[in-house]
Amino acid sequence: MAHAIEADGLVKTYPGDVRALDGLSIIVGHGEILGLLGPNGAGKSTTVKILTTLIRPDAGTATVAGHDVLRRPDRVRRVIGVVSQRSGADPEASGRDNLVLQGRLYGMGGAEVRRRAAELLERFGLEEAASRKVKTYSGGMRRRLDVALGLVHRPRVLFLDEPTTGLDPEARASMWAEIARLAGDDALAILLTTHYLDEADRLARRLAIVDRGRVVAEGTPDALKGELHGDAVHLEWREAPDEPRVRAVLGRLPGVRDVIVDGPRLSARTDDGAAAVPAVLAALDQAGMPAAAATVARPSLDDVYLRYAGRRFAQADVAETGGAAEAVAAGGVR
Ligand SMILES: Nc1ncnc2c1ncn2[C@@H]1O[C@H](COP(=O)(O)OP(=O)(O)O)[C@@H](O)[C@H]1O
Ligand SMILES: [Mg+2]
Repeated sequence: MAHAIEADGLVKTYPGDVRALDGLSIIVGHGEILGLLGPNGAGKSTTVKILTTLIRPDAGTATVAGHDVLRRPDRVRRVIGVVSQRSGADPEASGRDNLVLQGRLYGMGGAEVRRRAAELLERFGLEEAASRKVKTYSGGMRRRLDVALGLVHRPRVLFLDEPTTGLDPEARASMWAEIARLAGDDALAILLTTHYLDEADRLARRLAIVDRGRVVAEGTPDALKGELHGDAVHLEWREAPDEPRVRAVLGRLPGVRDVIVDGPRLSARTDDGAAAVPAVLAALDQAGMPAAAATVARPSLDDVYLRYAGRRFAQADVAETGGAAEAVAAGGVR
């Protein structure tokens, strides 16, 4: 049987020569949750739009629940639930009415749709607010309703595009719990996109890290981190040092590898960080380039991204959006 989602070599160029997807391939198994992790502008929403038949790729193929998204979009639409990055709920209608309308759109009958709405309102903790207009809901309640809306017609494949962006920490935690529970439901496959490293770490059993429209690394969060043997060493200067000279100094130290210099920051890998740092600092001191700060850490997903994309996740997020607000949002939750 075909996988829940199979995408192969997706390419999408928007007007203005923006290459949003550059040969993206993913596979999501039945009952699996795949996290598509990438900075803003990486191509996550474009991937979701293609797989949910909203836009067509320039090249590549994709099937959802065995149906070709280009040849059988009608069949694809029947088996998927979509929670897009922006809320699809009608703010002037109540939560219950939104759910009932959604069910009717999918051809569900009166009694069935009311039963299903009640079930979802309970499940997502929206019973008390069921009769209130959605515009009175908190951000977290609204997002939970969005997920409930995506589930009304019992889809087999669910797309969650940045389900927790903009939520406060408490609402995020409650959404995480919901998503984890959904993933436990048998047979529901979930493609979850996120630009939060901690969210990807926490929720996705398997991760595909996307950078500039391609999957650059794939695996369980632990396996991805495990591939980066040893510890991560991070150094910082007050001003960007001379890169070739820094590299030359560190190159003479045994066991220091994968050096990546990014302005005034440097990351490297070592077998034993605690042992390596004093030697690294002493060598830099001696060369007249004393570091202002040094930290040692077990590898994080940020290190995984750095390794495969060649730049820090938060920096990529800023670069792609150019927006200070986004930068704060991305940096604040790491
Ligand atoms: N309708 C569009 N027209 C032109 N460019 C677009 C459009 N939608 C997205 N893009 C660009 O395509 C790239 C990928 O966007 P998107 O898929 O939304 O990324 P993500 O969801 O990962 O933030 C970005 O550079 C974005 O600006
Ligand atoms: Mg997006």
